[in-house]
Amino acid sequence: MYRSRPTDKLKDDVLRFLSSMGEDHSILYYDIVGSEAHSIMLHEMGHITDGELKKILSALEEAKKNPASIWTEEYEDIHEALEAFVIKHSGMEAGGKMHIARSRNDQVVLDVRMKIRDDINEICAALASLVQGLVQRAKENKQVPMLMYTHLQQAQIGTFSHFLLSYAYGLMRDMERLYLTYHRINQSPLGACAIGGSSITIDRKRTAMLLGFDSIIKNSIDATSSRDAFLEYASTLAILTSTLGRITEDFIIWSTTEFGYIELAERYTSTSSAMPQKKNPDPLELTRAKAAVVTGNLVSILGIVKALPSGYSRDLQDIKPPLLGASAITLDTIKIMDGVVRSLQIDNERIRQVASTSYAIAIDIAEHLVLQNKIPFRTAHKIVGALVGKAASKGNIPLAKLEFADAASVINAHKVDIKADQLMKIINGMTPEKSLEARKSSGSPNLLEQEEMIKSLSQGIANYSTGIQKRTKMVEGSFDNLERTVKNYLQS
Ligand code: ARG
Repeated sequence: MYRSRPTDKLKDDVLRFLSSMGEDHSILYYDIVGSEAHSIMLHEMGHITDGELKKILSALEEAKKNPASIWTEEYEDIHEALEAFVIKHSGMEAGGKMHIARSRNDQVVLDVRMKIRDDINEICAALASLVQGLVQRAKENKQVPMLMYTHLQQAQIGTFSHFLLSYAYGLMRDMERLYLTYHRINQSPLGACAIGGSSITIDRKRTAMLLGFDSIIKNSIDATSSRDAFLEYASTLAILTSTLGRITEDFIIWSTTEFGYIELAERYTSTSSAMPQKKNPDPLELTRAKAAVVTGNLVSILGIVKALPSGYSRDLQDIKPPLLGASAITLDTIKIMDGVVRSLQIDNERIRQVASTSYAIAIDIAEHLVLQNKIPFRTAHKIVGALVGKAASKGNIPLAKLEFADAASVINAHKVDIKADQLMKIINGMTPEKSLEARKSSGSPNLLEQEEMIKSLSQGIANYSTGIQKRTKMVEGSFDNLERTVKNYLQS
């Protein structure tokens, strides 16, 4: 339909190569409402008569009701297919005017912005639910001592809930990034035309308002050429999925028989075609892989946009699949993780038992020596290290099972002012529970600290949820208004 200068048709395989029809399904709705807003504005500015507008709008409403009817192989993209459909239904005299002061270059980026705007709201809402699930599960498990690991080796005593809260904090930062990106996405490029605007008087702010945008992207070159807001969005998703990747990795390790800390609900596990005993964490493994896929999508987009000349180039078409793919994948993984978190079983007995047979209380003993006995930390570190060495060499016995003589020899070797029975008393008194009680610093797994974190995270979720609802309502409200305006024209 667009071929005015070329007299020859596109070769079939070239058309297939050029076509974005396959990926344009997800922007068709936005192309229709964008076209409605543009046509209404053209009418208000006196470029389209009342009768012509009605014909255009009725064709667009028909397309909305029956989207399959505009799907044919003969067009390069959904913009061409929709315009052809409108011209077919409303005649050239009316439909042929719909594209006044507009180009596919501002149109496609308009559509994608509206789609990503919805995606951000949906992903933020899913994220809020996941964080809420994590906080809920944290509330139920605040008191059971659990090992924490560094280098995947036993490190300090913590709690399962402390881990869950740490994920919640990470995801809240992901939420914040996404939430802020929305402002840069929600700006209208419509009316920038091909690259340089139009000699026909249009009202860009009016179309922006009709479509629920916060503002317009002022410069017409910027509006049609820039994709930085999409890059920012894809980056936030890559970071977000990598946060999920860390959570999945922890859960996968903890669900092994060797750890046995958690058990995934059966509906979140897969099995083996060969080994009947298997209950595999496949949904988590795929969630872990998706972080790489989304990062790959981000890198594809970056590669495409880097060093493109200003002004639309067809290369930009190829950012749609990785961009929209990143949205869909991220939403899926968040929902999977939400289900996993809410349904997993926590084996508190096993968690407590492993923590209580560990040397992870070593640092607490050292800190006790610093606090109560005024021993320099470095010396305390050496004493407790030597005690652990002795216990390990006796077959990994608990520190409390060391002999009086062991303590005495370590004290002697380090020339510190403490009695062996005093040292043994400190060691015997240091249980994982005591370790948690003694932890004072802000953000540590101490019960009071955890409660504070739970409170602040809950408040954070409530604030974001209100903001997300407001934004969603704002977009829905604009579309409802637009639909009402369309109906009014059609009925007048
Ligand atoms: N289908 C294209 C895209 O997805 C938009 C068309 C712009 N094409 C053009 N030749 N100016 O980006």
